[in-house]
Amino acid sequence: MNRKYRKTIIAGNWKMNTLPSEVKSLFAAVKASCGRAAWCRMVLCVPYTHIQQAVKATRDCRISVGAQNLHQSPHGAYTGEVSAPMLKDLGVKYVIVGHSERRQYYGETDVSVREKTLAALEAGLRPIVCVGETLQQRDLGVTNELVTLQVATLLAALDSHSVRKVVFAYEPVWAIGTGRTATAEQAQEVCALIRALLRKSFGTVVARSVPILYGGSMNASNAKELLAMGDVDGGLIGGASLKPEEYAEIVRAANQ
Ligand code: PGA
Repeated sequence: MNRKYRKTIIAGNWKMNTLPSEVKSLFAAVKASCGRAAWCRMVLCVPYTHIQQAVKATRDCRISVGAQNLHQSPHGAYTGEVSAPMLKDLGVKYVIVGHSERRQYYGETDVSVREKTLAALEAGLRPIVCVGETLQQRDLGVTNELVTLQVATLLAALDSHSVRKVVFAYEPVWAIGTGRTATAEQAQEVCALIRALLRKSFGTVVARSVPILYGGSMNASNAKELLAMGDVDGGLIGGASLKPEEYAEIVRAANQ
């Protein structure tokens, strides 16, 4: 974290879990346990079906609601899809783009991630853009090359104004949902690489203003160590964000 230049973001990703009828009580539990988080932004990325209720539940607090995906077109004949203006209209503030599960199961590529990021920005949403290597890629020693390609494909389409609205999330695929967290040093190394790429394209002032999160089995017991790293500006948290107490613990770690 580096509070001088950027806010810490603790973002939960509920994935395809929980029911709309549970939203009210889950948010009440999160609100009760989180208290005032002066130093960090709290974001919960919920399924589309939960958004309206989540926005309602967060009217009186500082938790922002995020979505987990969007379509790259603002409207049109795309049966079953949801666009950025629709999310914006509901009161959504953030949207996850290019999560590894979407890359793996739904064929998302660096190019579609770029299109979706631009669509989110155009609508006034803050995209949380996920990048990261598989275990095979790490073992082959190509992590830096891979992440550079993922990030550079996007940066080429942004300017110094729009990039300030982007949040990056480094999520090594082998750490997601596996209980196997990257070490704080591994997380820092790749987050620093992403910042170096930002610096190269847009200069120091812009690069130091962009939040870069770590994601992959982050929980209450490892959050403090990960967040102590200078270029790790928060977390994108899956499993642990479904437990309000645990999410609150991570928020507390970010506020210490
Ligand atoms: P996890 O998921 O915390 O359950 O590993 C992280 C993510 O997929 O964003």
